[in-house]
Amino acid sequence: MAVLVTGGAGYIGSHTSVALIEAGFEVVVVDNFCNSKRYILDRIEQITGKSVRFYKVNVCDENVLSKVFSDAGDIESVIHFAALKSVGESVEFPEKYIKNNIGGTEVLLKVMAHHGVSKLVFSSSCTVYGQPETIPVDESAPFLPAESPYGFTKQACEEIITKHSSHTNGSEGFRSAILRYFNPIGAHPSGLIGELPLGIPNNLVPFLTQTVSGLRDSLIVFGDDYPTPDGSCIRDYLHICDLADAHVAALKNIPSGVRPYNLGTGKGVSVLEIIADFKKATLMEVPYEIGPRRKGDIVQIWADPSRAEKELKWKALRSKEEALIDAWRWQQNLNGAT
Ligand code: NAD
Ligand code: WQD
Repeated sequence: MAVLVTGGAGYIGSHTSVALIEAGFEVVVVDNFCNSKRYILDRIEQITGKSVRFYKVNVCDENVLSKVFSDAGDIESVIHFAALKSVGESVEFPEKYIKNNIGGTEVLLKVMAHHGVSKLVFSSSCTVYGQPETIPVDESAPFLPAESPYGFTKQACEEIITKHSSHTNGSEGFRSAILRYFNPIGAHPSGLIGELPLGIPNNLVPFLTQTVSGLRDSLIVFGDDYPTPDGSCIRDYLHICDLADAHVAALKNIPSGVRPYNLGTGKGVSVLEIIADFKKATLMEVPYEIGPRRKGDIVQIWADPSRAEKELKWKALRSKEEALIDAWRWQQNLNGAT
């Protein structure tokens, strides 16, 4: 039996496909490459030594997606990564985000029901919490008004999945693990796959590695006057391979009904600490300057990941130094390829 991985050529999807194949799962990838490259699929095959079944499909296209289920014939569960993820772009083009992220999830649920597939792992985000009142934040924290249309799509999809479950429960026993990712960083230790920002990166670590490699002049630290120990914002950064492993754990221990899980390390790290850790781990200087605050930034957030540990039997194991070394190796390989 196979796992359908939507968005499997993307950053998290490609690492998860590797982890699934290495754990003995049969993987079927669908992607339309709107934010990824086809060669990443070859890299997954290179790392695992197994061929990957693939369909170039937009998940919003119901008929074509349904044909994938029929053609593959053995899809038993789905991990749904396919979505647009740029916060800034979502502010500019909210409709595009709503259509792709919410529309795609609705189509997927419909097609799954039609084909009698009832297990779904969904990519959500800690963005659903906004700036929570209590840190570390656990899964009982309320959704705060979304900071962006992107964040809104994650909240809406969680609600749609929950509603879908209450409609189908009993008949098909729909089960879904909703995974709320904190900040994935790093790359596969082989250096063959990693984050592939198209254009100027929004996220901290790809911007940092591009700066160190000379592609950008300087990393701007967005504010050092926040009420945190060193004045810069705090996040919960986890190694991408730990995050990938969490999906394997979620499939193996899928809850009954719909249940959210925080995926983070449980530790908060500041922007300035990431810069210092990068230098220590790679011995590379990071040209940086302090700039103004970024509009809408959350001051500090980190996860209480204890539910995932208890119920999914998963815990982040790799260090942030390892993640930064792996991110740097990937950046150097990317530079060599261009
Ligand atoms: P990514 O852009 O690297 O991967 C997403 C993949 O989905 C890409 O390969 C893209 O081409 C594909 N895709 C998008 N829309 C599609 C569609 N309609 N049909 C088919 N394929 C489509 O992003 P990522 O970082 O790997 O994120 C994966 C998921 O995790 C997303 O749902 C994202 O919102 C969520 N998430 C990411 C982060 C993060 O920091 N990277 C944090 C929290 C949540
Ligand atoms: C991390 C920290 C910045 C770049 C975003 C999305 C969120 C989620 C994860 C998917 C912050 C600082 C960054 C730079 C900086 N994605 N920074 N200079 O803010 O946690 O969230 O990605 O769901 O929805 O909003 O991640 O990597 O952008 O920033 O100082 O050039 O690095 O201020 O404190 P963030 P990030």
